[in-house]
Amino acid sequence: MRLQAVTTNSLLLAISPLVDGHYTTDNWYPAPNATGSGGWENAFSQAKSFTEKLNLTEKIFLVTGVDGPCVGNIPAIERLGFKGICLQDGPLAIRQASFASVFSAGVSTATTWDRELMHQRGAAIGQEFVGKGAHVMLGPVSGPLGRSALGGRNWEGFSPDPYLTGVAMYETITAEQSQGIQACAKHFIGYEQETQRVPSVNDDGITIQAVSSNIDDRTLHELYLWPFADSVKAGVASVMCSYNRINETYACENSHTLNKILKTELGFQGYVVSDWGATHSGVKSILTGLDMNMPGPLGSSDSSLASWWGYNITTMIKNGSVPESKLDDMIQRILTPYYYLQQNSATYPTIDIDTAQLNAGVTGSDVPAYQHPFNLGTNTDKNRDVRNGHSSLIRQLGTASSVLLKNSKNTLPLASPDRLALFGNDAVDVTGGPYDPQNVFGVQAVGGGSGTGRLASLVSPLEAIKARLPSASIQYITDNSLITSDGISSIYPTPDVCLVFLKTFATEGADRTSLLCDYNSTQVVETVTSSGSCANTIVITHSPGINLLPWADNENVTAIIASHFPGEQAGNSITDILFCDVNPSGKLPYTIAYKAEDYNAPIVNFTGSDNPNAWQSNFTEGLMIDYRHFDHNNITPRYEFGFGLSYTTFSLSNIGISKVSTSNLDAYPPNLGAEVPPPGGNAALYDVVAIVTAEITNSGSVPGAAVPQLYLSFPTSSGETELSSTTTPKKVLRGFEKTQVLAPGASATVRFELKRRDVSYWNVEKQDWKIPQGSFGILVGQSSRDISLTGQISFL
Ligand SMILES: *[C@@H]1O[C@H](CO)[C@@H](O)[C@H](O)[C@H]1NC(C)=O
Ligand SMILES: *[C@@H]1O[C@H](CO)[C@@H](O)[C@H](O)[C@H]1NC(C)=O
Ligand SMILES: *[C@@H]1O[C@H](CO)[C@@H](O)[C@H](O)[C@H]1NC(C)=O
Ligand SMILES: *[C@@H]1O[C@H](CO)[C@@H](O)[C@H](O)[C@H]1NC(C)=O
Ligand SMILES: *[C@@H]1O[C@H](CO)[C@@H](O)[C@H](O)[C@H]1NC(C)=O
Ligand SMILES: *[C@@H]1O[C@H](CO)[C@@H](O)[C@H](O)[C@H]1NC(C)=O
Ligand SMILES: *[C@@H]1O[C@H](CO)[C@@H](O)[C@H](O)[C@H]1NC(C)=O
Ligand SMILES: *[C@@H]1O[C@H](CO)[C@@H](O)[C@H](O)[C@H]1NC(C)=O
Ligand SMILES: *[C@@H]1O[C@H](CO)[C@@H](O)[C@H](O)[C@H]1NC(C)=O
Repeated sequence: MRLQAVTTNSLLLAISPLVDGHYTTDNWYPAPNATGSGGWENAFSQAKSFTEKLNLTEKIFLVTGVDGPCVGNIPAIERLGFKGICLQDGPLAIRQASFASVFSAGVSTATTWDRELMHQRGAAIGQEFVGKGAHVMLGPVSGPLGRSALGGRNWEGFSPDPYLTGVAMYETITAEQSQGIQACAKHFIGYEQETQRVPSVNDDGITIQAVSSNIDDRTLHELYLWPFADSVKAGVASVMCSYNRINETYACENSHTLNKILKTELGFQGYVVSDWGATHSGVKSILTGLDMNMPGPLGSSDSSLASWWGYNITTMIKNGSVPESKLDDMIQRILTPYYYLQQNSATYPTIDIDTAQLNAGVTGSDVPAYQHPFNLGTNTDKNRDVRNGHSSLIRQLGTASSVLLKNSKNTLPLASPDRLALFGNDAVDVTGGPYDPQNVFGVQAVGGGSGTGRLASLVSPLEAIKARLPSASIQYITDNSLITSDGISSIYPTPDVCLVFLKTFATEGADRTSLLCDYNSTQVVETVTSSGSCANTIVITHSPGINLLPWADNENVTAIIASHFPGEQAGNSITDILFCDVNPSGKLPYTIAYKAEDYNAPIVNFTGSDNPNAWQSNFTEGLMIDYRHFDHNNITPRYEFGFGLSYTTFSLSNIGISKVSTSNLDAYPPNLGAEVPPPGGNAALYDVVAIVTAEITNSGSVPGAAVPQLYLSFPTSSGETELSSTTTPKKVLRGFEKTQVLAPGASATVRFELKRRDVSYWNVEKQDWKIPQGSFGILVGQSSRDISLTGQISFL
């Protein structure tokens, strides 16, 4: 199938779309039709024959949301036995439900660097969504990627490194969908800040447009698109377009990102769903590649507000601005994953009424009245418990995602101290109920917004430590204001060890304004450590990711653990680390700097401007975010990307580097001509072209797991002009492998597979991935700055 750009010279436009100092996006029509290629062929035929039975009104129902029990609702069509589609938040729990688990956040999951745990988490989450009768879970997240340290939703995603995030997306999606739920990779694309993420109307009635992420083509491909490519490769059912603009065009009506990149270059066969309220046009959004408009509604004859879609689509089809075949393609894209995952099965669970009640704020046996039919369960099977013993997995995830940053004077692990003191408002149970993540008092197990969870149970650190040491003296002061104003002089006897629990909140809808932990954290640590009672202080943080730790070098801060957002087993997870039931193996999936100014790519903020187009975020740093920026500008981080201590030590040896025998490896993957590639893009990009092995040995005295990491240095001085050292990072992560627990003295061989895409850069002129000439540096180590084995490889 040949796709034509309406412009005569699309290549030229793709390279230089700056017009009069404005970023623009080229038009790319028409949207390719789905074919179900790549394994969905049978489901596609089912979707096609079903579509043929629909009348026009019913077709409109399938693409536009209505009011209903779930966060997003496609109503049932009883005439045809179709039970509707229920979309639910995501991504760390089924949010609107009782008796469901609250899992560790995305950032925690990345911190494990453990593919198997990522997979187990995805499967468990998927199972809970299915159990509650959802069809689509709104997650996982790879946008935001984490360009700005202060991004309010970074924690919902995984890591600012696209390779690590890509692996996490792949594992999560394949695992979730193996349980029968549709995953939704979100938010596509360039959604890197909350501030002005949606348009606003100022006091003069002027509409101020949403922030525009202006991203050059290479940066888009090598950073922000990379994990979405892995998601499509994983067979993701849907992709959510984001609130922001890209090159000044809204993400849900951007033909370049949707029609060209997602549906053609990546061969995506599923559907694009709008973020809630992110649709800003009718005909345009349809022709540019949006397939489902959420939350709708249908329009004039519906009781609620009108929308761009709904019954308006009838007019669009009648007046010829949208061909009916386009609407059919949208429906087929929506229904193909539904049939593929057998969600039409008679045994697929009904929608638990608890969801309807929580969404509408009603209780008892009342069910809200809806205008359209849904496959709701009954009052006798509501509040279904779908947790299925997942708390032990959540505990394990919380433990595996705790990073030991400092451990001096052999403070950790704790033996069996008789005298402990706990400080900080993060140590205790939450005081604001199960569904209020922003409490002054209470362990910060999750963040806020649509990505939060409803805690059916929560274990606080204080509770877990008391259970662990039933006869110790355990003193605690958990009011931070009291600590900073009055000190801790009431503590007696002097503790053997002091634990300070700090927390940081983050939520959808707002970016963070500080990188410090909240609630006077610095003063709290200083008060405790200078009190004369706490020369042995362990600081534990629960946080959405990046924090500055200005007290890290304090002589009395003898250990630091970053425990992220562990989910409902927070207390048990941290005690498992403190007492070495589990030897820590978490590694930072981001960089911790000495000072805020060390980070680049700040949140842009034009609050107060009355220029409708003021909000421009130029991604001029290109590929240099997080560790790439620190490496490129020779900035020393406090704790680098990939870093994390263990109670033992490991040593690396015996690097092996071999090319996979391919007689003729060309710089470019085989040309597909006019074909739309299979999901994920040109299949050759995923061919393994080299294998690197290394041996890792536990050189200490405690059993533990290690995470060897492989970084690649691209050849920047071998004649490839696009690969200059000013635009190309010094090194990029291209492999990692968490080992089994190794006994002292034991070794394991780790194996990293380099795929064609891993050793290619995005060549803008050719619009393809190219393996450069010259010699790549292979760097194997235990963090991005602890490289102990090196080698070289070249392909051409
Ligand atoms: C973004 O880049 C454009 C084009 O170079 C420039 O005109 C504009 O001033 C920049 N905006 C900001 C906020 O830097
Ligand atoms: C945005 O503009 C840049 C050039 O400044 C270009 O490289 C890129 O392809 C454009 N992206 C989109 C989605 O139009
Ligand atoms: C999609 O299919 C319809 C027929 O169903 C056809 O008219 C249209 O040209 C196709 N679009 C593309 C881009 O091939
Ligand atoms: C389409 O089918 C629905 C029943 O699913 C019916 O209510 C409606 O009247 C039909 N519309 C047309 C235009 O036939
Ligand atoms: C069509 O869309 C416009 C814009 O949202 C809205 O004002 C109008 O009411 C819609 N019409 C129908 C029939 O829904
Ligand atoms: C067709 O109808 C749609 C929806 O009402 C409208 O937005 C569009 O401008 C119309 N196009 C033409 C060519 O009349
Ligand atoms: C943006 O600027 C406004 C006004 O100065 C300020 O109130 C707000 O906190 C800023 N937002 C962020 C995320 O820094
Ligand atoms: C910081 O401490 C002061 C008193 O020591 C208190 O008044 C203030 O509310 C505290 N701020 C926060 C955010 O806890
Ligand atoms: C550390 O604790 C000791 C003993 O309590 C005290 O003398 C010293 O001043 C403390 N250091 C700091 C930096 O507070």
